[in-house]
Amino acid sequence: MSYPYQIKSFEEYQQAWQYSVTDPEGFWAQVADNFYWRKKWDRVLEWNFKDPDVKWFQGAKLNITENCLDRHLGTLGNQPAIIWEPNDPEERHRVLTYRTLYNKVCQFANVLKNNGVKKGDRICIYMGMIPELAIAVLACARIGAIHSVVFGGFSAQSIADRIQDAQCSLVITCDGAFRGGKDIPLKSVIDDALIGCPSVKKVIVCTRTRTPVSMLKGRDVWWEDEIKAVETQGNPSCPAEEMDAEDELFILYTSGSTGKPKGVVHTCGGYMVYANYTFVNTFQYKLGEVFFCTADIGWITGHSYIVYGPLSAGATTVMFEGIPTFPDAGRFWDIVDKFRVTTLYTAPTAIRSLMGFGLGPVNHKDLSSLRKLGSVGEPINEEAWHWFKDNIGKGRCPISDTWWQTETGGIMITTLAGVTPEKPGYATLPMPGIQPVLVDENGKEIEGNGVSGNLCIKFPWPGMIRTTYGDHERCRKTYFATYENLYFTGDGCMRDEEGFYRITGRVDDVLNVSGHRIGTAEVENAINMHAGVVESAVVGYPHDVKGQGIYAFVILENMSKDLDLFRKDIIQTVSRIIGPIAKPDKIQFVSGLPKTRSGKIMRRILRKISENELDNLGDTTTLLDPGVVEEIKRNRLS
Ligand code: PRX
Repeated sequence: MSYPYQIKSFEEYQQAWQYSVTDPEGFWAQVADNFYWRKKWDRVLEWNFKDPDVKWFQGAKLNITENCLDRHLGTLGNQPAIIWEPNDPEERHRVLTYRTLYNKVCQFANVLKNNGVKKGDRICIYMGMIPELAIAVLACARIGAIHSVVFGGFSAQSIADRIQDAQCSLVITCDGAFRGGKDIPLKSVIDDALIGCPSVKKVIVCTRTRTPVSMLKGRDVWWEDEIKAVETQGNPSCPAEEMDAEDELFILYTSGSTGKPKGVVHTCGGYMVYANYTFVNTFQYKLGEVFFCTADIGWITGHSYIVYGPLSAGATTVMFEGIPTFPDAGRFWDIVDKFRVTTLYTAPTAIRSLMGFGLGPVNHKDLSSLRKLGSVGEPINEEAWHWFKDNIGKGRCPISDTWWQTETGGIMITTLAGVTPEKPGYATLPMPGIQPVLVDENGKEIEGNGVSGNLCIKFPWPGMIRTTYGDHERCRKTYFATYENLYFTGDGCMRDEEGFYRITGRVDDVLNVSGHRIGTAEVENAINMHAGVVESAVVGYPHDVKGQGIYAFVILENMSKDLDLFRKDIIQTVSRIIGPIAKPDKIQFVSGLPKTRSGKIMRRILRKISENELDNLGDTTTLLDPGVVEEIKRNRLS
C-alpha cells in the first residue's frame, strides 16, 4: 500500500490546492485512480447546488469493503487492522488482523443475508464500541445494505424516530454495553423503541455484558447462534455486492435548527475517496503506524476515522470501548503506551476534562511513541491546545485542529501534520479540493484577509452530503437555499491576516455540547412534553469542560410546586425523549419569555443573560413585555 497522493511539503500542498481549484475533476480523478474499482467512472463530476444534485464518479462500480479489506489481504493480511481495548483494563484486548476482519465481515454478511437482508435495505445499528460494531458496519456495506448507526447514548424514542424515518427492516444490537462504571442495557432500550416500529422484522443481539434480556420468538436472534449457522453452511466467503458510485452507503442522523434530526446520506464512491484522502493527508499516515481516534462509531468521526478512512488505507486503527476517566484519568495515556500509538485524535472536551485532573495521571506515562495529535468536534481553546501540545505531545507533535461536519463526510479545514503550519485556535487551511468562502448576511462574498463571516463552500467535494433521507427538499432548504450556489455550513468563521481560518461556532440554533450536536428546538420540544410545562426556550452558555452547556428557561402552569423535584423530573423527560446527552445543565423557571410583538422569542437576550452579560442586552424596546427581562435577570442561575 502506498499513497502517491500524500502531500509531503508546504509547496506540494500549495500546488495541490491550486490544481484542485483549477481542475477539480483532474485532481480527484488522479486521487481516485488509487482505489480498486470494478469499473471506472464515465464522468468525474456533475453538479448543481440549486436542486442540489451532486454526482461523483458516475458510472463507476465498486464495493467499499473490497477497498477496506480484500485489496489488503495479499500484502497486509497478517497486519493488525483493528486493535480493540476493552472498558476494563483487566480484560484482554483483541487484535483483528486484516485477514481475520475480512473473514468475520464475510461471515456476518452471510448472517445478514440469511436473515433476509438485501441490497438497499436500511439497517439500524445500536451497539457499544466492540469490534462487532465495526464488523456489522462493514458487513452491511459488503452486501449493499445501508447502515444507520445510532449512538448508544440516545433514548428509545430517538432510536424509534430514526428507525421509522429510514424504515429499517433489521436492528443489530448488544445485550448491553460497558462504559466506565456503568452497564447500559442496550437491548432493553431497543425493545422499548421497537414498540412503535413495525418495519423491523428481525433483531440480531450480540453478547457483551451478559445482562439478562428478553428475546422475542420469531424476531430476536443471537449473533453467536447465527454465526454458528453460517459456519455449518460451510461457506466462509461472501462476494461483495457491486455498487454504483452514487449508491447510498450510509445514513447518519444529526441535529439541525429544527426539531427533527436529519438523516444525512453519504454514497459509496465519493465518500470512500474523501475519507481516505483526508485520513492519509491530515495525519500523514505511514504504514505500520498505530492510529487512535477516541470517538464513538455512532458519530461521523468514528465512521470516517475509525472505520472507513483507516481501513481503506490499510492502517491499524485502535477502537476503545470505555471512557477517558475510567478506571482513572490516565486511561488514554495507558492505551497510547500499551499499543505504541503514533497518532491520537480526540476532542477538546476530553482534553479539558483531563486537564482538570492535573499532570498526575500523565506523569510517568510513556508517550514517546506519539508523533501526531488531532482535535475535532468544537473550537479548541488556546489553553487546551497548549496543554495538549506541551504535556501530551511533549512539544514535538504537530496538532491538527480538524474542522468538518457530519454533512461533509471528512475533514475540510485543518493542518496537515508536520506539512502545513499550525496555529492555536485555528483550523488553518483548507484541504486540497475544498474552496471555503466567507459571506455576509446577504450572501455576498467577503474577500481578502482579516475578515469574518458565515462559512460556506463554493464547489463540491467527493465526501459531501447528497440528500437528507426521504426528504430532499429539507436538504436543499437547510444547506443550499440560504445563499445561492453555496453550501452553507451553519458556522461562523474568521480568516486572519495570513489567510488562516478560525471557526467561531454555530450561527444557527444548534448547540455543541461536549462535541455533540444538539438542536435547541429538539430540547425545547422534549421539555414542552413534560406535564405542567407551558413553554420553554433553550440556549447554550459557555461551559468549562463541555464547551457549551444547556440553559433552559421554562414557564410552568403552576409555580407552587416542589421546584427542585420538578427540575429533576424535567431532566428525566428529556433523557427519555432524546437521551442523557441532551439533559439541561440549568433550568430556570420564569413567568414569561422575552418575545417580540409578533411572538418570536428573542434568544439573543436569553443568551446574554445565560452568559452573565447583563448590562449588554441590546435593544429591548421591541419586546412585548420588557418587565419579564428584569425578572429573568434577577433570578438568573449562576
Ligand atoms: O460547529 C462545528 C463544530 O461541529 C459541527 C459539526 O458537528 P458534527 O456534524 O456533529 O461533526 C462533528 C465532528 C466532525 C460544526 O458545524 N466543529 C467540528 N469540528 C470543529 C468544530 N468547530 C470548531 N473547530 C473544529 N475543529
